Amino acid sequence: MSLQTFNWLILCWALLAVALVPVQLWLTPGYGRHASGKWGPGIDNRLGWIVMEIVSPVALLAPFAAGGAVSAPVAVFLGLWLAHYLQRSVIYPLTMRTRGKKIPLVIVASAILFNTANGWANGYYLAQGWGGYGGQWLADPRFWIGLAVFALGATINIRADRRLVALRDHGEPQTYVIPKGGLFRWVSCPNHLGEIVEWTGFAIACWNLPALAFAVWTAANLAPRAIAHHRWYRQTFPDYPSERKALIPFLL
Ligand SMILES: NC(=O)c1ccc[n+]([C@@H]2O[C@H](COP(=O)([O-])OP(=O)(O)OC[C@H]3O[C@@H](n4cnc5c(N)ncnc54)[C@H](OP(=O)(O)O)[C@@H]3O)[C@@H](O)[C@H]2O)c1
Repeated sequence: MSLQTFNWLILCWALLAVALVPVQLWLTPGYGRHASGKWGPGIDNRLGWIVMEIVSPVALLAPFAAGGAVSAPVAVFLGLWLAHYLQRSVIYPLTMRTRGKKIPLVIVASAILFNTANGWANGYYLAQGWGGYGGQWLADPRFWIGLAVFALGATINIRADRRLVALRDHGEPQTYVIPKGGLFRWVSCPNHLGEIVEWTGFAIACWNLPALAFAVWTAANLAPRAIAHHRWYRQTFPDYPSERKALIPFLL
């Protein structure tokens, strides 16, 4: 495939994410607190998370099976992706407290499609050597700014997810309580905020179209989800902190 064809495909892929935002605002994917019978049959929640997330690093690395060159910056990009998905597809599902809960197969299938497309697009671009990431890229400010933003986002995401999971220390899997402390003082979903910041940092560090498309998809998925979570908190808890926003402190 030529770079031009690839870029057109990725542009259409990113535009699809934007086009689906109104749909995601109207129809919140039915897992976690938004689960309902109308999403069809499901599988064990933990298993579903492992299956749907593990495909991403596999799809990322698949294009390298044909023998793509791995320069130092490309090794860093792959390392960041693999570290994130070690957390997302192994550590996070193994620590979650959702015993007995199911995730709909249709959600798992759509996440597999999403993760395969984004993993493959990023891996293919890097394996083709299109970015021209030689040693000089290590001296580019975009690389270091992107790494710093990625690290900040990952830290926010992991800390917030851990805090949420810990809320069920002494509770049943169906129990929800108001999260407190850390960035929860300002927003309902710092885990979603952190994930968006993280992939924005990755896109800055790579400065290429497939990484940007993944950041756009992440924001298009998680901003509507954070808004739905926030609305749910306010409807469920009459004493929910009124000054707290959904996703971005003081703004949204
Ligand atoms: N890149 C992407 O496009 C994308 C898309 C989706 C998710 N993600 C990431 O995947 C992770 C999980 O996403 P999510 O939307 O499922 O997160 P979430 O709804 O905030 O849930 C995170 C975990 O904490 C539990 N939990 C949440 N709020 C709770 C509360 N108030 N009291 C007790 N337990 C609570 C949830 O249990 P329940 O499951 O039982 O609610 C779940 O196990 C996040 O880090 C997110 O950024 C990324």
